Amino acid sequence: MKFFVDTGDINEIRELCDTGLVDGVTTNPSLVASSGKDFKELIGDICTLTTGHVSAEVLATDYRTMLKEADVLSAIADNVCIKLPLTPDGLKACKVLSSNGIATNVTLCFSALQALLAAKAGATYVSPFIGRLDDIGQNGGDLIADIVTIYDNYEDYNTQILAASIRGPQHVLDAALSGAHVATLPPKILRQMSQHPLTDKGLAGFMKDWEQTGQSLL
Ligand code: E4P
Repeated sequence: MKFFVDTGDINEIRELCDTGLVDGVTTNPSLVASSGKDFKELIGDICTLTTGHVSAEVLATDYRTMLKEADVLSAIADNVCIKLPLTPDGLKACKVLSSNGIATNVTLCFSALQALLAAKAGATYVSPFIGRLDDIGQNGGDLIADIVTIYDNYEDYNTQILAASIRGPQHVLDAALSGAHVATLPPKILRQMSQHPLTDKGLAGFMKDWEQTGQSLL
């Protein structure tokens, strides 16, 4: 499973990329706004920190302007992935871009049928938003499982399922158990995943016993 970081915070991205556990980055207009940075500069800076895909979202809602914006974003770096909303215009733009070999991430996916359309449009990634579905009393984990089943039914779909809107480690576990290809994680959740109270307790015990040996390895 690949892990992307879902943030516009360049310091967080740098620190997490240094762990070697990060395969790419996703941003959205809200995350860019909260970074306070110039959009193009921010994407350029992020692209220097990872060789993986960096999703940058178009702001237009009409197909023609989406394609113009995609040109601007693609020119920033080779690893920019164009993020498009799951609308008729977004799907149309996705089809053109993917036919031209441009990486695409179709975002704001809330149903399996929407995901089916993203695959038909040749999307590199489709982003089902688990947390936002849970927020309205639906089951985001079930959506991931349904998309996995549908994509597995058709060998000609190469779209990767990118579990998004992840609110906690349980969402990552659900996505991994279902077979999502990627999870994009807020930095806090990526850090939480390595934590377990028994790991801390066990390590403290080992260190205490080791001290009594009086030995040193270095
Ligand atoms: C994914 O690409 C989105 O940026 C993100 O996961 C949205 O998450 P949210 O529902 O927490 O805003």
